[in-house]
Amino acid sequence: MDSLVLNAPAKINLALQVQKLREDGFHELKMIMQSISLADKIKLSKSSEGISLSSSSNELPLDNSNLAFKAAESFFSANQVEGGVEIYLEKNIPIAAGLAGGSADAAAVMRGLYKLFELEEQTAKVKSLLAQLGSDIPYCLHGGTVYATGRGEVLEQLPELDKKHLLVVTPAVKLATPTVYKQYDNLAAESEFNFEAILKNLKFEEKVNWSLDYKNDLQPAAESLCPQIKEVEELLKESGAEFTLLSGSGPSVFAVYPLAKQAEQAAKNWPRKTDFITAAETIPSY
Ligand code: C5P
Repeated sequence: MDSLVLNAPAKINLALQVQKLREDGFHELKMIMQSISLADKIKLSKSSEGISLSSSSNELPLDNSNLAFKAAESFFSANQVEGGVEIYLEKNIPIAAGLAGGSADAAAVMRGLYKLFELEEQTAKVKSLLAQLGSDIPYCLHGGTVYATGRGEVLEQLPELDKKHLLVVTPAVKLATPTVYKQYDNLAAESEFNFEAILKNLKFEEKVNWSLDYKNDLQPAAESLCPQIKEVEELLKESGAEFTLLSGSGPSVFAVYPLAKQAEQAAKNWPRKTDFITAAETIPSY
């Protein structure tokens, strides 16, 4: 095998609770992560040596400050293999949007390199390599519906959700994750929601009960930095969504609809022309 193409799915957070700020500067979290059908496409081709990166987007750095590049460096330093790789990123996931686009690309590069060089992927080892690159990246290795703790890298697979029809809306504003966490600390709010009830719902009950505290503690901080989030969420509610929430540190907001055609209709009639908007579905682990 000389080349292969992989999907790098985005994620949303069905819930995100901030526990505390740790001494290492990260926040201890409880999150429900969910993969969705919106995905980047990654093409990997073997080369004689070194790592090269190109992309459909002109907004991304193409050197070793890019997480996909870092994942390839990490693969080659952890494994004795001959040769190098050319990486092409077809970007479909909005950048710096709370959808883990960069993390998804990095995890897909790692997954793909194990396949391309025909090495057995030892999941625990690979996850620990990926955790060094970013908090959400170990999750992105296999995705699905996952309960994540620690800074996001301690993962427990949950039962697969029945397919949810979604709309994901990203205002044309970039929010850097550290800025949103800093703002969260400045606002000094105490998390009050009952995460245990959410876990019980997802582990033992057939239907997601949206009347439970499916919330995101970062939402007030993100809204204070990007007031458009509130407007987007209100419009999604008016369009018939049964549930809406900020994803990660934002500014993307997702909405869940009872039927796929309601999501498509809402996308068609979306009034804010500068937003990135896409209909998507939840997907199982890959
Ligand atoms: O791990 P990652 O590179 O995604 O984190 C980026 C930044 O987001 C961290 O440097 C930190 O400021 C913030 N963060 C955090 N707590 C987490 C994850 C991220 O404070 N659990």
